[in-house]
Amino acid sequence: MFRPALKQARVTRSAFSSVRFASTGSQSLKERMQQLIPKEIENVKAIRAEHGKKSFGPVTVDQLYGGMRGLPALIWDGSVLDPEEGIRFRNYTIPDIQRLLPTAPGGSEPLPEGLFWLLLTGEVPTPEQVKALSADWASRAEIPGFVQELIDRCPPTLHPMSQFSLAVTALNHDSAFAKAYANGISKKEYWGPVFEDCMDLIAKLPAIAGRIYQNVYGQKNLPPIDPTKDYSANLATLLGFGDNEGFVELLRLYVTIHSDHEGGNVSAHTGKLVGSALSDPFLSFAASLNGLAGPLHGLANQEVLVWLTKMQEKIGEDATDEAVKEYVWSTLKGGQVVPGYGHAVLRKTDPRYMAQREFALKHLPEDKLFKLVGQVYEIVPGVLLEAGKAKNPWPNVDAHSGVLLTHYGLNQMQFYTVLFGISRAFGVAAQLIWDRALGAPLERPKSYSSEIIKKMFTGKN
Ligand SMILES: CC(C)(COP(=O)(O)OP(=O)(O)OC[C@H]1O[C@@H](n2cnc3c(N)ncnc32)[C@H](O)[C@@H]1OP(=O)(O)O)[C@@H](O)C(=O)NCCC(=O)NCCS
Repeated sequence: MFRPALKQARVTRSAFSSVRFASTGSQSLKERMQQLIPKEIENVKAIRAEHGKKSFGPVTVDQLYGGMRGLPALIWDGSVLDPEEGIRFRNYTIPDIQRLLPTAPGGSEPLPEGLFWLLLTGEVPTPEQVKALSADWASRAEIPGFVQELIDRCPPTLHPMSQFSLAVTALNHDSAFAKAYANGISKKEYWGPVFEDCMDLIAKLPAIAGRIYQNVYGQKNLPPIDPTKDYSANLATLLGFGDNEGFVELLRLYVTIHSDHEGGNVSAHTGKLVGSALSDPFLSFAASLNGLAGPLHGLANQEVLVWLTKMQEKIGEDATDEAVKEYVWSTLKGGQVVPGYGHAVLRKTDPRYMAQREFALKHLPEDKLFKLVGQVYEIVPGVLLEAGKAKNPWPNVDAHSGVLLTHYGLNQMQFYTVLFGISRAFGVAAQLIWDRALGAPLERPKSYSSEIIKKMFTGKN
């Protein structure tokens, strides 16, 4: 049974606009967006008129050399990341969305469909609206034959993320936005075809992931999408785990919490940046995926499992705290990072880590690898603090996700970032739609050479 329609479903709540009118329970997402966009255009105009010339403070030379940490540079409405508290999706924390978003019949984790609605509108959808979104995505799920062939032709040794990026790039063949642009669409209308492309993009990702999984790991005969099932259930089916209800529930949580982490992270920012050139959502999101595939970003969830496995090989399965501590030190002394720990913004344990830990405590408390993850959690922060370099010694989302996937039998570590990529499409797509609706301009910040910086400040204190 879906959860009964919550009161909050019709309470308008906006993270960025003070005036909102309520969505009726049967309205489609596109209809709702059509109502919200004109109001938001006015809202942004008013913000710029009142605050447009105000400053966030100085920019330091260190920020230019230091990966732009903390530099206020982007508008991103779907979520905001607080260093101490962690992520809020349109002002809702992870426990909030676990309580408020509709769930599947018999399930207790939020459906990512609801999260997408929330990211776009700032509102909690009704169960009917979420169900309609599941059906809409299922109806768009098929991928073109040539994309299937493209994946099949990739050598199984090509990393799944590279195959993923190739396939998503190729979807641009059927982009509604690219076609409309070529036909001379007016700026004011951009968001409509971008919305359609984003819906297609999200809908087709499970089929792409399933095909890559088949290509790399030799799973035979992909089952078809079931139009009566939700997104995560269909994704699990395409990976061969459709009958495993625990895994399906995990995917619902996984996709929801990995969807968005404000706009400055590499995958989100890259998607927004490429989209600002009016590259269509497929090209923009393929660029996001290439960023997510880096070991300091999304690939860290693969790296964590690789690291844990190597540790087990070296010090055994039931190692003492002392042995684990020594292993962590050996990683640092080898000039490597401890994957799954640290963060560019967070300064506390990532609430996405905690949500996964709670899932594990509920569903797999005796799992050996989960216990090891818990043991590592007790030891790594102390070591990182003692080493004295990392600004945040606490675990991030990637420290936990691989262990949960492994528990249910998805133990192909190289595939993990593909699941992260599917999730990240939700956040990137929501912002791409708003960027085109609000007429966001081409991104073009100013760069400087070291020589110019030296000249600029010579003789000045
Ligand atoms: C996420 C990450 C890239 C953030 O980088 P950052 O903002 O530059 O982090 P900091 O400012 O704390 O880095 C300061 C120093 O501590 C080091 N550090 C940070 N996290 C570390 C970790 N987990 N293990 C070892 N060293 C770490 C950095 O490499 C840096 O070293 P340097 O001065 O020799 O270059 C970094 O914490 C990291 O590499 N973590 C491991 C990979 C990971 O889990 N990525 C997923 C993030 S969600």
